[in-house]
Amino acid sequence: MNDNKIASGEPILVTGGAGYIGSHVVRDLGEHGYRPVVFDNLSSGRAEAVLYGELVRADIADTELLGSVIRRHGIKSVMHFAAYIVVNESVAQPLKYYENNSFNCLRLLKCCLENGVENFIFSSSAAVYGMPGKVPVNELAPLLPINPYGGSKLVSEMLLRDAAAADPRFRYVALRYFNAAGADRQARIGQDYRQPTHLMTLALKTALGQFPRLEVFGTDYPTPDGTAIRDYIHVDDLAGAHLLALEFLKDGGTSSAFNCGYGIGHSVLDVVAAAKRVSGIDFKVVHAARRLGDPAALVADAGAIRRELGWAPKVPHLDDIVASAWAWEKKLAARRP
Ligand code: UFG
Repeated sequence: MNDNKIASGEPILVTGGAGYIGSHVVRDLGEHGYRPVVFDNLSSGRAEAVLYGELVRADIADTELLGSVIRRHGIKSVMHFAAYIVVNESVAQPLKYYENNSFNCLRLLKCCLENGVENFIFSSSAAVYGMPGKVPVNELAPLLPINPYGGSKLVSEMLLRDAAAADPRFRYVALRYFNAAGADRQARIGQDYRQPTHLMTLALKTALGQFPRLEVFGTDYPTPDGTAIRDYIHVDDLAGAHLLALEFLKDGGTSSAFNCGYGIGHSVLDVVAAAKRVSGIDFKVVHAARRLGDPAALVADAGAIRRELGWAPKVPHLDDIVASAWAWEKKLAARRP
């Protein structure tokens, strides 16, 4: 978003706005003069992460309440983050994922259409590509998810595509996140899951002595060092993409899906090395079996979002991403020793 541009208090409904990525977007909405209205059941989010606007503590399955919030605030734009995100849990409990991520998205979408919402920004995932035939992967690659998490996001994208095709007043942007990481650079907010599963977070918590060792899941992938490759994107750059997507739709942009990543792949061992470098702590690392549902390599071709939305990432260096997460983890550790 153009940093000089200030919206004049326009209300934006943000489901899951107390969560990791949602809270960073809420921060940016507030800082750019929007008025976020957060709808979050706090199952994984934190009330204190909502730096701007009102927090409605409720489940998105409660469409009666959702509808009344949309009408009361005169909401025209919705950002939908509320979802489950743990890939291997989705393999073990697929229906839980389809119910919350797809079925509840359908109900939210219906409620939005019934109440005059025009713009919808959806948190999609690189997981919709499954095991891409070639990386970097662009938006035209086949959508063949290999786990129920990716399947549940793909179903939601299909719902949005078909709903938008049928209603000329309604448009959406699906942002396909690669691996969001890092924290607010003032360490006001960051990742704060009750049961963390993400690599960078676990590596830094291990450095802090909160876990005895870090497990590397799979060392026999067809990659240069045998560990899986991901495209780690700073959560602030990811948040910025949401504001650009909102402006794009408000300016009449067409419904679209965009990859959000840097186009740079790092292996698990690269992240471990960066975590040791940044923290200055040589924590214990052990090799373990592959984790269910993990693809070998996911790296974005992010040409489309740069071209269409003018997105220009600000924190593309792995050590800078790790450094922001490290500052946040140290703050959390001091707050809850
Ligand atoms: N990993 C380890 N040890 C750990 C944790 C993770 O080796 O303790 C490995 C994983 O096996 C994977 C890589 O580190 O190869 C990254 O794992 P994360 O759990 O950090 O992230 P994922 O790639 O599994 O998933 C994330 C989001 C998804 C999203 C996906 C898109 O959680 O929502 O990125 O790439 F779909």
